[in-house]
Amino acid sequence: MGSWSVFECSKEQKVVNFKFESVEDFKPAALGKSLCMDFESVVSAFAKTPEERIKGALSSYIYDIPQYPGDPVDGGIHYARYVRLPSSLIPQKQPSLLKQFAPTIKEYIGMGASFFDIGPGPEWSVTRNTIPSLSILNPATYIAVDIEVEFTEEACKTIAQAFPSMTVESIAADFHKESLPYPESGVSVVWYPGSTLGNLPSRFGQTFTENPFVAEHLKLLHRPQNSASNSSESQHYLVLLMDSRKDNADSMVNLYTSAEARGCFKSILFKLKRDLQADSFNPEAFTYNPCWNGQSSAVEHTFTALESQKFSITDCFNGREAEIEVSEGETYVLANSLKPSYEEMREMLVRSGWQPLESERDAEGLFHIHLARASI
Ligand SMILES: C[S@@+](CC[C@H](N)C(=O)[O-])C[C@H]1O[C@@H](n2cnc3c(N)ncnc32)[C@H](O)[C@@H]1O
Repeated sequence: MGSWSVFECSKEQKVVNFKFESVEDFKPAALGKSLCMDFESVVSAFAKTPEERIKGALSSYIYDIPQYPGDPVDGGIHYARYVRLPSSLIPQKQPSLLKQFAPTIKEYIGMGASFFDIGPGPEWSVTRNTIPSLSILNPATYIAVDIEVEFTEEACKTIAQAFPSMTVESIAADFHKESLPYPESGVSVVWYPGSTLGNLPSRFGQTFTENPFVAEHLKLLHRPQNSASNSSESQHYLVLLMDSRKDNADSMVNLYTSAEARGCFKSILFKLKRDLQADSFNPEAFTYNPCWNGQSSAVEHTFTALESQKFSITDCFNGREAEIEVSEGETYVLANSLKPSYEEMREMLVRSGWQPLESERDAEGLFHIHLARASI
C-alpha cells in the first residue's frame, strides 16, 4: 500500500498556477502515479471483446484540471459548473438529507473524531454539503482526500476558514487504490456523499451486489494500515450517500446530457492521449451517450467509435507499451454512475464488512444514506 503525504492546510488564498508552461513541458510522470491515468485501466477498458472489457475503468478521470494553458484535459472545470446546474440532482438536492442525518451520526461518533472527506469536490460542494454537517459533527480533524489536488486545496481553505480551531489536512491520491491513514485509536469517520462510490467499474453481466470492484473498495475503506488500529478503542464509521436506482430510466440518463456533463466525460479521452503519450490517438473520433444498464444498476457513459484507429500507449513509470485497436461503430463504457437500490446497497455493505447502523431515504426516494461501522 502507498505511503501518504498528508499536508497541513493554511487559510490563505491560493494563487492558481499551471504546473507546466506549455504542452512541450508537460511530463506525465510529474503528476505522480495515482493522478496519472492508469495504463492497465486503459488496456482493460479497450480490451478486444465486450465480455473482456472492464466497464467504467476510467471514471475517476472526469475531474481533472488543466495542467498547462490550452490543455484540453478540463473535466474538473466542467464538473465545477455541472454541480451548479439546477438540474444536477445530487449537488442540488443532497445537502438537506446530509444535514438531517447529521444528528444521528453525532450520537454514534461523539466528540473529537477524525473526519475523512472522501472526494470533497469543488468549493461550492464543500460549502453546501460538508460545512452544515461539520457544524453538527464537530470533529477534531478534517482530512480532504481527492484525486484532484485543486479540490483538496479548495476544501482545506474553505473548512479552515469556517472552523478556525479544527485541524485541517489534505491528501491528494486515488482512494480506489490505497488505504487511508486512519488514526491508531479513537473515532474515525469516512464521509462519502455525492454518490462518488458510483464511479467504480463493473463487469459485463454482473449485478450490483456481485460487483467485485465495489466490494473490494468498501473493504479497502475500512482496512486498517496496521494492526494497532484494530484495538477496542478504535471505532471506524462510514457515512455513504448514494443516488438511488429509479423506475424511470430516462430520469437517470438525462442527468448527463448537459454540455457540462459531456465535457467531464469527454475529458477522459484527452487525458488518455496526454498521460499515456498516445500521440496518434484521435479523441474527437467518438460520440458520447449515457445509457442505463438495469442488470448492473448503472448509467454507463458510453463512447461509440466514429472511425477505426490503432494507437500505442506508454506507461511513463516503467516504459511498458501496448497497442490499442478501436473499431468503427464499437462501443466502450469508459465511466459508470452506479445507482443501486437501497436494498442492494445495504446488502453490499454487509458483504464487505460494514455493519449498517442507521439509514434514511429522502421523501422523493431520490437517494439513500447509510451509517455503518466497520465490523471486521
Ligand atoms: C461526485 S464528486 C462528489 C463531490 C462532493 N463530495 C459531493 O458530495 O457533492 C466526486 C469527487 O471525488 C473525487 N474522486 C473521484 N474518484 C476518485 C478517486 N478514485 N480517488 C480520489 N478522489 C476521487 C473527484 O475528484 C470529486 O471531487
